[in-house]
Amino acid sequence: MTDTNHRKIVIFDTTLRDGEQSPGASMNLAEKMEVAQALVDLGVDVIEAGFPIASPGDFEAVREIANTVRGSVICGLARCRPADIDRAWEALQGAEHPRIHVFLATSAVHREHKLRMGKEEIIQHAVEGVRRAVGYCSNVEFSPEDASRTEMDFLCEVVEAAIDAGATTVNIPDTVGYATPAHMYKVIDTLRNRVPNIDRAVLSVHCHNDLGMAVANSLAAVEAGAGQVECTVNGIGERAGNGSLEEIVMALRTRHDFYQADTRVVSQRLVPTSRLVSSVTGILVQRNKAIVGQNAFAHEAGIHQDGILKEPSTYEIMRPEDVGFAKTDLVLGKHSGRAALADRAKALGYTLSAEQLKEVFEQFKILADKKKEIYDGDIASLIEQQILSVAELWSFDSYEVTTGTGKIPQVRLTIRRGEEEASTTMQCGDGPVDAIFLAIEELTGTFVVCKDFQVHSVTVGKDAQGEVLVEVEHEGRTYRGRGVSTDSVEASAKAFLNAVNRIAAVTR
Ligand code: KIV
Ligand code: ZN
Repeated sequence: MTDTNHRKIVIFDTTLRDGEQSPGASMNLAEKMEVAQALVDLGVDVIEAGFPIASPGDFEAVREIANTVRGSVICGLARCRPADIDRAWEALQGAEHPRIHVFLATSAVHREHKLRMGKEEIIQHAVEGVRRAVGYCSNVEFSPEDASRTEMDFLCEVVEAAIDAGATTVNIPDTVGYATPAHMYKVIDTLRNRVPNIDRAVLSVHCHNDLGMAVANSLAAVEAGAGQVECTVNGIGERAGNGSLEEIVMALRTRHDFYQADTRVVSQRLVPTSRLVSSVTGILVQRNKAIVGQNAFAHEAGIHQDGILKEPSTYEIMRPEDVGFAKTDLVLGKHSGRAALADRAKALGYTLSAEQLKEVFEQFKILADKKKEIYDGDIASLIEQQILSVAELWSFDSYEVTTGTGKIPQVRLTIRRGEEEASTTMQCGDGPVDAIFLAIEELTGTFVVCKDFQVHSVTVGKDAQGEVLVEVEHEGRTYRGRGVSTDSVEASAKAFLNAVNRIAAVTR
């Protein structure tokens, strides 16, 4: 389908850094490791694993990923400050292919109000930052933050100085999502034509989606000659998010006739990776999201369905299986064996160790006793719960609630902390879910404000598993939790405990 002679665009994934900056999207170490490995399997060239100086947790995650994940460049972010750069290198030095990414704002508004620095000082700091990073590592990226609102002459000057100082990639961020495609094309084109040493570095683009144009702007930059695109899975990130990796990759692949460019991404891994990121962050993918949304390939209109049956290319510009949607939603049941489960897991894009398969199979049998038909969505959520349920401080055991219209619920809840059991009986709350949340707060000593609560079914049917997503606020920070069960009250308890566990992981 694609011509191997096409220019290869470097895909720089920042799901673990800029993506994690979405409110409530914080991931624990085990989740970050899982996502990092999935990104390698997806074929991304560079993984921005975090901002090491930001917190001990960020440092630990970058170090762990650098020490263990192989196959992609591992990058850490740093401001143009010695302490940041030293810390980034401390975290990255175990990487097979490390990269230090230094950034400094260059636009007038940032120079005057945030940094209180003149143009000369900005250039001096940028050069010193790049030089210090080059002292540690030959692969150095420099970003003039808010580049799209920086005066073009000054941007050219900064970029030239950064390349002279040793930057091997220069990234042009549209930090506040202000650019338009024509604007972005012009910025990249001007840099390519006016910066004399531009051929010594890869020119990159990093777009935010405040005006809904992040993907269009990224593609315009590629059209103008950019060789690297920074993006995130599902487009998660600060505010309205970053450019969405799956959309950029599939636009380049589907329209290679136009862009004459492609990436190394294994497109069949897009849906499994999207599902994983959604599951660990608790940020749902909208149904009509391009490429990975549930409806992305669903044809409703009769004329369309008729056309598809006659010849799929009448209405389909990509095949669902090319982006990793399983061809059929095969139904498994209580008589299905381990081999059938392993086969389905593989088709859904999960690689399970023998130990993980054993554990998922046990849960599968329990679920099969509760519901007759087990769909792909059920299997995906069983696997995700299994492979991601590492190091949870508290786990759910059992509950009972008695309630009715106009009555205050009576709740008995048991949870576990390792081998220890903690139980309480309370009369409280506005309904069964509220009562369980209050009982969990009482038992764990973690008190939160519940900001959002959503229940939806994982698959079809009255016996479908319910997935509950909660968003809570604790000491000014947002945390999410997710729980799945055929009983939606139990799923609520699990989701709330999951959020409490995330709080414990940060505050312990
Ligand atoms: O949006 C931005 O400017 C950034 C930089 C750190 C590259 O994320
Ligand atoms: Zn950004």
